Amino acid sequence: MILEEISFLNVRKLEHFHKKLSENTTIITGKNGKGKTSILEAIFFLLTTKSFRKKYNQSIIKETKDFLQIKGIVTKEKTTTIKTTYSRKQKKIKINDTIIKKTSELLPYCNIVSASPEEVDLIETHRGEKIKYFDRICFKTTEGYVEEINKYNKLLKIRNKLLEENQSTAAWDNQIVEAGIKIWKKRSVFLKEIIEQFKKTEKEITEKNNYEIEYKSKKTKDKNEYLKELNKKNTLKKTIFGPHKDNLVFKQKGSHLQDTGSQGEKKLFKYILKLTEAELLRTENKTNPIILLDDFFAKLDDENIMKIFTFFHRKFQTIITTTTIKDTAMEKKIKTFQENSVSIIEINDQTI
Ligand SMILES: Nc1ncnc2c1ncn2[C@@H]1O[C@H](COP(=O)(O)OP(=O)(O)O)[C@@H](O)[C@H]1O
Ligand SMILES: [Mg+2]
Repeated sequence: MILEEISFLNVRKLEHFHKKLSENTTIITGKNGKGKTSILEAIFFLLTTKSFRKKYNQSIIKETKDFLQIKGIVTKEKTTTIKTTYSRKQKKIKINDTIIKKTSELLPYCNIVSASPEEVDLIETHRGEKIKYFDRICFKTTEGYVEEINKYNKLLKIRNKLLEENQSTAAWDNQIVEAGIKIWKKRSVFLKEIIEQFKKTEKEITEKNNYEIEYKSKKTKDKNEYLKELNKKNTLKKTIFGPHKDNLVFKQKGSHLQDTGSQGEKKLFKYILKLTEAELLRTENKTNPIILLDDFFAKLDDENIMKIFTFFHRKFQTIITTTTIKDTAMEKKIKTFQENSVSIIEINDQTI
C-alpha cells in the first residue's frame, strides 16, 4: 500500500499542509516544535481513526479551531481517497466520497506501523497495556479477533459489576468462558508467530539473538477447569482469571529488559519489534504497510540506524522525522541512492 499524498487542515499547530510523498522514503526535517510529529500523527489518524500519542482526544485539533480535516490518496490495488473530518462532536470518514458507517470499514487501509517517542512506552508500561499492544497488531492480521475481544470485554464488565454488587454470576459464566477460550486460542497462535518472526528479524538486523519475548498465560486445558478457576473465591470483587490477565515479559540475555537494558538497547528492541510487525503485516495482508518513524535518529548509534534504514528502504514506504540529517551517516548514505527514492521535506515557518 502506498500513500501518494497527504493534506490536512488544523492538526495541532499546523493550519494547513499538503505534500506528495515518495513511494520509498520521505524524510521530514525541522527544528523542535515545528510540527513534524503532528504530520505523522495526521497520517496515522487518517488510517486508524486514532492517534499514537499517549494523550490526545480533542487536543489534536488546532487550538482556536473547532474541526480538523485530513485527506489522503492511497494506492492498494486501486487508488482510493480517504477523508476524515473530526469536530468536537464527531468523526466523519469518507472512502471515495461515500461516508462509512462503521470504522471497521477502514481496516483494509489500516496497514501502518508507527514508532514514536510520544507513544506509550511498551517496555515501561504495565501488563495490560503490553497485551493491548500485541492485540492491536493481531486485529490487523486475524479475522474476527477484534469482535471477540469486544465481546469478552463487554462480558467482563457485566460480570465485574455483578461481583461488585454481590450478585450471582452463574448466568454469565458459561458465556465468558467460551469467549475467553476463543481469545486464548487466537492469541496464542498469533503470539507464537510474532515471537518466531521477531527472532528472525533480530538475527537479520543484529546478527545475534539476545532479546526474548515470553508469553505468560494461565490458559486452562478445558472449559471445566476454566469455570473452576473463574469461581475460586477472592476478596477483590472482580474477575481475576482469564485472558485479560495474560502477560508478556521482555528479556535481554536472560535479564529483564526493563530493569537492566540501556536506553539504546530498549530502543533497538522496540524497533526490531516494529520491523517484525511490518514483516508480519506484509505476509498476512499481502500488501506492504506504511512505516512512520518519528525522531528516528535519537538514541540509536549510526550502525543500527543504517541497518534499520536499509531494512525499510525500498521494501516499505517509510516516512521519517528528524531534527536534522546534515553531517550524519544518513546524509552520506542517501547520496549513494538513486535519485527520487528519498525525498526530503523541510518544515519551517515558510513551508507551512
Ligand atoms: N491543539 C494544538 N493547537 C495548537 N498547537 C498545538 C496543539 N497541540 C500541540 N501544539 C503545539 O505543537 C507543537 C508540537 O508539535 P510537534 O508535532 O510535536 O513538533 P515536532 O515533532 O516538530 O517537535 C508544540 O509547540 C505544541 O505546543
Ligand atoms: Mg516530534
